[in-house]
Amino acid sequence: MIKSKFDLTGKVAIITGASKGIGKAMAQGMAEFGATVVVSSRKQAAVDEVAATFKKEGFKAIGVECHVARAEDREKLVNQTLEKFGRVDILVNNAGTNPYFGPIAKMNMEAYQKTMDVNLNAAMELSNLVYPHMKKQGGGSIIHISSIEGLHASHMMGAYNISKAALIMLGNNQAAEWGVDNIRVNVICPGFVDTKLSAALVQNEQMRDKISRNTALKRIATPEEMAGLAVFLASDAASYCTGATILNDGGLIHAPLF
Ligand SMILES: NC(=O)c1ccc[n+]([C@@H]2O[C@H](COP(=O)([O-])OP(=O)(O)OC[C@H]3O[C@@H](n4cnc5c(N)ncnc54)[C@H](OP(=O)(O)O)[C@@H]3O)[C@@H](O)[C@H]2O)c1
Repeated sequence: MIKSKFDLTGKVAIITGASKGIGKAMAQGMAEFGATVVVSSRKQAAVDEVAATFKKEGFKAIGVECHVARAEDREKLVNQTLEKFGRVDILVNNAGTNPYFGPIAKMNMEAYQKTMDVNLNAAMELSNLVYPHMKKQGGGSIIHISSIEGLHASHMMGAYNISKAALIMLGNNQAAEWGVDNIRVNVICPGFVDTKLSAALVQNEQMRDKISRNTALKRIATPEEMAGLAVFLASDAASYCTGATILNDGGLIHAPLF
């Protein structure tokens, strides 16, 4: 049965940045397909609330606080998952930040470093922490949440774009190295999604109109529209899919300019 390959029952998924937005929607999607989800963000109260809501729906979930740029937090996240559930099958590196809007020449290195630490370096470090366990288990699925901003340049978000481009290549390299261990690594590039992170852009009427005009589907996405692809990549239905960079952007990249 092909349908049964989408079933995530028995699998344990860690999702970073899952207290709201895209991460929360992906965690819910995976939980609905049967996974035990470890909901994580910088705030214990926020992830506890999400986990409690999921549990009320009959899903299996816990909340673990983890600031992804902190080594001790990353170790705690993976260790608590293993202590509680004995395995880790899916890692979604979703937590992201964009602390600076403006030209690269005026950006201070602190903002640049923070962007790289959260968006890129944490994804590598967390992947390295789960890698030996996935290898021992006979496989796993790692999903990085990049962005269409990782595929083109911008005038205002240089560090973000650089970090998201590098995240794509991190995924490609991990896929090349870890395929032999049946660990699949794929990258999702969302377009514009209505969340807190994008609020400055998508809540601005002029920007919203401009984005919608330049998107084939003529609108901005909801976080829930990001969940299905993540569920697929996490599941055995994607058992031959690795090293892929998949756009979920409503046709933004391919919309003709004239
Ligand atoms: N929204 C878009 O249009 C869009 C487009 C392309 C790509 N993306 C990417 O999608 C991912 C999710 O973004 P979103 O739009 O869903 O943002 P969001 O709604 O603002 O949610 C961000 C999540 O990350 C958590 N977080 C922030 N910094 C963190 C850190 N240092 N460590 C751990 N957790 C952290 C936040 O929770 P706490 O505050 O509780 O920590 C929250 O759960 C990001 O990687 C973003 O770059 C978004």
